[in-house]
Amino acid sequence: MTATLPSPRHTDLHDAPVLRWGVLAPGVIAHDWVDSVARHTSQRIVAVGSRSLERAQAFADKHGAAHAYGSYAKLVQDAEVDVIYIASPHSEHESHALLAIAAGKHVLVEKPIATSAAGAQRIADAARAAGVFAMEAMWTRYRPQSDVVRQVLEAGTLGDIRLVTADFGGLAPVDPTSRLWDPALAGGALLDLGVYPVSWASFVLGSPTGVLASGDLAPTGVDRQAAMILTHDGGAQAVLTTGLTARTPEASVIAGSEGRLEIPSPFWFADDVRLFDGTGDLVDTWHDPFGRVARESLCCEAVALARYVGEGRTESPLHSLDETIAVMATLDEARRQLG
Ligand SMILES: NC(=O)c1ccc[n+]([C@@H]2O[C@H](COP(=O)([O-])OP(=O)(O)OC[C@H]3O[C@@H](n4cnc5c(N)ncnc54)[C@H](OP(=O)(O)O)[C@@H]3O)[C@@H](O)[C@H]2O)c1
Repeated sequence: MTATLPSPRHTDLHDAPVLRWGVLAPGVIAHDWVDSVARHTSQRIVAVGSRSLERAQAFADKHGAAHAYGSYAKLVQDAEVDVIYIASPHSEHESHALLAIAAGKHVLVEKPIATSAAGAQRIADAARAAGVFAMEAMWTRYRPQSDVVRQVLEAGTLGDIRLVTADFGGLAPVDPTSRLWDPALAGGALLDLGVYPVSWASFVLGSPTGVLASGDLAPTGVDRQAAMILTHDGGAQAVLTTGLTARTPEASVIAGSEGRLEIPSPFWFADDVRLFDGTGDLVDTWHDPFGRVARESLCCEAVALARYVGEGRTESPLHSLDETIAVMATLDEARRQLG
């Protein structure tokens, strides 16, 4: 193999129409997301809505948003907002997305877009009917690393892809009041972390024809550990693991008949991609030159969305709503098998 790894495209984070963003639910990820967007892009954060006016005002003061609202309903009515970033717990994504779409806003919905394929379908149906843009905030898709992988896959460098492995497991102390462990907030490893490896496998192999899942439930009733084998037309497999009980390797391998890629930990925001030839020799390594470490690169998805809206699109060309629904269907089946 003489191939080398390509450079990512679309890396200018200021090269997109400037949209006016409203943030719905100012929790942990909303702070990190806004920090990243403000630091690296020209996008404008103009408003925030919380269930508490005090929390909204504190967030607005910290991040320089002009408008703070004590309800999500008031936020989505703000005529100066183009797009709503929805950062509430999983259980609330669907109703909050539908609220924003009904007000005519574009939506970027934190992962997982809903708690089931049916919920994701309802968001897609509403967005399509309203003619607004809707996208799951699966930020990995929009990072430079994924464009390197995408180009390798498109070029067929790896030959016939036979196996994808991916893992995302963290150690979260059991706390029934935390959204991670609370069934009422759609907690559990599969929806919170497992969505990353399942979406990654879908990115490489498309939708599976079979899902085999095994795992374990926590005393609160949510899934705390799971392994999945996804099968695809032609026999390719994805072997995916997730959990809340241990710090696991969090890496990914994409193996084909002519070579393989290794994406080191943490694969969903890795800074390296390694290409090996069919004999197992390391051929090339791509190292992210942009230096936006960890959640600093959350902004890539915001810029991608702004670019797509500017192009008149209503869905992400890199992650369609139908694919997002199919990923949720895989998670539905895994969760059903885990009971
Ligand atoms: N992309 C990533 O890397 C990443 C990382 C972490 C989390 N996430 C996703 O982001 C979402 C939020 O996660 P987070 O860790 O930021 O959660 P969090 O800190 O608990 O924040 C969620 C916010 O949602 C609001 N909320 C609305 N209804 C609620 C309810 N019934 N119970 C509790 N809070 C409610 C609350 O804000 P107000 O009450 O002030 O409105 C709360 O601060 C999740 O879907 C998660 O999967 C993504």
